[in-house]
Amino acid sequence: MTASNTPKRRWSLLHGTRPETSFTVGGPSLRGARVLLRPLVADDYDAWLAVRSSCRRWLQVWEPRPAGGKHLAEDRSSFVSRCLGRERERQLGYGFGFGIFADEVFCGEITLSSIQRGPFQSGVIGYWIDEAKAGRGLMPESVVVVLAFAFDSLALHRVEINIVPRNAASRRVVEKLDLRSEGVSLRMLEIDGVWEDHMRFAITAEEWSERGAVLKAEWC
Ligand SMILES: CC(C)(COP(=O)(O)OP(=O)(O)OC[C@H]1O[C@@H](n2cnc3c(N)ncnc32)[C@H](O)[C@@H]1OP(=O)(O)O)[C@@H](O)C(=O)NCCC(=O)NCCS
Repeated sequence: MTASNTPKRRWSLLHGTRPETSFTVGGPSLRGARVLLRPLVADDYDAWLAVRSSCRRWLQVWEPRPAGGKHLAEDRSSFVSRCLGRERERQLGYGFGFGIFADEVFCGEITLSSIQRGPFQSGVIGYWIDEAKAGRGLMPESVVVVLAFAFDSLALHRVEINIVPRNAASRRVVEKLDLRSEGVSLRMLEIDGVWEDHMRFAITAEEWSERGAVLKAEWC
């Protein structure tokens, strides 16, 4: 790779700021106290499939999917295509998908997607964790790591998380972080074949500048 084409250089050209993170081949790696977030690559397929297979039902009921549509394809080539698609999104600055690793073991995913620049400067966080690793606070920690990346490195102005009201576990994640509730959007997303209402939670750069240090100290 030439000096003019390093990930950091491409980043600076795209975003004008340099992230306080390290770069792996596929993009930035972010660290919390227990979690390492990094883009998934083809070699992660076996670990990813093992987790997907062991908690398919746990995940499928919360996944966007049209009525009668197929569930997420789990074969190797679909996985590799998704990794490549995310790499492209990263290069364009539209979205950042990360695998969550704790003790170097794959245990879930978190994405910062739908990034809009211009007057919005916003993004949306989505996530899931291995059922066997649930309840250890790994997701609130991962969310704080991604918020730090979104505000401190990408200089976004607003990040939101949208949750189906009956998803009590996910609501606990935003409650623990005390993210601001913005009400409910009716029939916002088609989840597992049903147009579901979503509770909307958000944090802006102004709130992050007040609360970010405390959140990072508490969770990371
Ligand atoms: C939502 C989710 C990401 C939370 O991740 P997590 O790392 O377990 O988060 P936490 O450890 O903070 O736990 C949050 C809450 O989940 C609940 N919980 C914990 N273990 C659980 C388990 N084994 N089964 C079900 N719920 C559990 C508890 O209510 C917990 O709150 P508490 O700590 O006050 O008891 C995880 O439950 C998940 O992946 N669920 C399936 C996919 C999903 O819902 N994605 C989000 C869509 S918006």
